[in-house]
Amino acid sequence: MSYVIGVDLGTSAVKTVLVDKQGNIAYETSESYPLSQPKAGYSEQSPEDWVKGTLTSLRRLVEISGVSPDEIEGLSFSGQMHGLVLLDEDNHVIRPAILWNDTRTSKQCRQIEQVLGDELLQIARNRALEGFTLPKILWVQENEPEHMEAARVFLLPKDYVRYQLTGDLAMDYSDAAGTLLLDVTGKKWSEKIASAFHLPMSLCPRLIESFEDVGGLLPEVAEQTGLSVNTRVYGGGADNACGAIGAGILSEGQTMCSIGTSGVVLSYEERKDLDFEGKVHFFNHSEQDAFYIMGVTLAAGYSLEWFRGAFGKDLSFDQLLHDVNNVEAGAEGLLFTPYIVGERTPHPDADIRGSFIGIDAAHKLPHFARAVLEGITFSLRESIDILRESGKTITSVVSIGGGAKNETWLQMQADIFNAEIVRLENEQGPAMGAAMLAAYGSEWFPSLQDCAAAFLRPAKSYQPDAKRAEKYNELFAMYQDIYGQTAELNKRLAAFRG
Ligand code: XUL
Repeated sequence: MSYVIGVDLGTSAVKTVLVDKQGNIAYETSESYPLSQPKAGYSEQSPEDWVKGTLTSLRRLVEISGVSPDEIEGLSFSGQMHGLVLLDEDNHVIRPAILWNDTRTSKQCRQIEQVLGDELLQIARNRALEGFTLPKILWVQENEPEHMEAARVFLLPKDYVRYQLTGDLAMDYSDAAGTLLLDVTGKKWSEKIASAFHLPMSLCPRLIESFEDVGGLLPEVAEQTGLSVNTRVYGGGADNACGAIGAGILSEGQTMCSIGTSGVVLSYEERKDLDFEGKVHFFNHSEQDAFYIMGVTLAAGYSLEWFRGAFGKDLSFDQLLHDVNNVEAGAEGLLFTPYIVGERTPHPDADIRGSFIGIDAAHKLPHFARAVLEGITFSLRESIDILRESGKTITSVVSIGGGAKNETWLQMQADIFNAEIVRLENEQGPAMGAAMLAAYGSEWFPSLQDCAAAFLRPAKSYQPDAKRAEKYNELFAMYQDIYGQTAELNKRLAAFRG
C-alpha cells in the first residue's frame, strides 16, 4: 500500500493524518500546545512547541498505524496563516511567534494605509488588517528594534516546522499572500512595499508552489519520528487554501464554510482583475495560478470554546449543545455577536467586543448556547452576502470543521445562509488538503481536481427550511444593527481597558 501524510498546524493543536490512495484515513493523531496571551489583544506561541508537537504526532502516527515507513511516499502541510516567525543569522527563533489573532498592530495598519494608499490594494490585494504579517513586522521594528536588527528572514508557522523537518527555508504562495508583502497576482515579493518600510528583500524567503518537492526529511527527524528519509516533503499551504482543497473547492462556483478557531466563507475566484475594494480577502490558492476570496469571523469555534470555558466548564461540547435543538430558531429573542477578540469581516475593528442582547429572565443555558451558534453563523452570513453582492451565485456550500460536526448547526447554516449545506464523508478539513497536496506532489493524480474526485465523497446535505430561513432573515437584520449600536461604546471600553 502507499500512503501520504497531511500535517495541519493549527492554533490549538497539530493534527496529522495518514491517507491511502483512495482517500481513506488510515490513522490520525493530534498534539495540543499552549497559546499565550500576555496582554489583552496579544496572542503568541512558541515555534519550538509546534515542532515538538509535530514530531510527537508523527511518531505516534507511524507507531500506532503500524504502516511500514517505506510505504509513506509524501508529506505536506497546512498551517495557521499570518503568524510572524523571525529568524536570526543562525536561523534561530528571535522571539515568540505573533499569531493571526493578535490585534496589537492597529497603529501599524494605519501607517501602512498612509504610506501606501491605493497601492496596497493594487499590489497586495488586501487591506491592512491587524492579523496580517507586515503590521507585525512593523510592530517589532518599532517596539523591539534590537530584534528587527537581528532578523535575517521571516517565516510563517508551517514554514518554520517544514524548515525544522527538512532544513529548507521557503514559503508557498498561498501563505505568502497573507503577509501583505506579496504582489498577489504577479506572484513575487513586492519591492515597492518592502522598501516603503525599509525592509531588505533578503527578509523574504524563497517562494514555492504548495505542491513543490522541497526534499526529504533530515536523518535526525527520520530517526525521531520513525519515518523514512525517502519520504518526500511538499511545500504545503495556508490552512484556508488547504481547507478549500480538502473540501473540493477547485473550480468557479464552489464555496465552503469552515468553522475552526476562526470561521471563513471562501469561494474559488477566477475574476482576478475584479476590484473587491478590500471587502473580502483575495489570496492565491494552493492550486497553481488559482485564487480565492473569503471573509473571516475571527472568533467562530473560539466563541463556543470561550462560552463553554466561562459558563459550562464541566460540560463536554455534546452536553453543552444537547438541548439546543429544544430551543426555537432565534433563541427566543436572544442575540449574540461573536466579536470577543475583535472582528474582520465585514467590520475590520480590533476594538469591537461581543454582546448578548435581549437577555430575559426566562433564558436558560441552552438559549445562550443556541444564541452563540446563531451569532457565529450570522457573522458568516455577512461574508456570504458580500460574496453574493460581488456577483457570485451561492446555492450550495460545503461545510467543514467544527461546524460540520453537529447536525443542528449544519441545519442552522442551511437556514441562515439560505443555501444547501453539504457535509463530507470522513471530513478532515485542512489536514486532508495537506495530504492531497502530498498526493498530487507524489504524482498519484494528474491534477488536484482528479485527486478530489478520488478522495472526497459527500455524506449528507441539508436543505433550508423556508419558514426558518424567513425568521432568520428578520433576526439577521437586527443582528446587523448591533455592530453600529455598540461600536462607539466598545471604543470607550477599549480605552478604559487600556
Ligand atoms: C485567515 C485567518 C485565519 C487563520 C486561522 O486570514 O487569519 O483563518 O488562518 O488559522
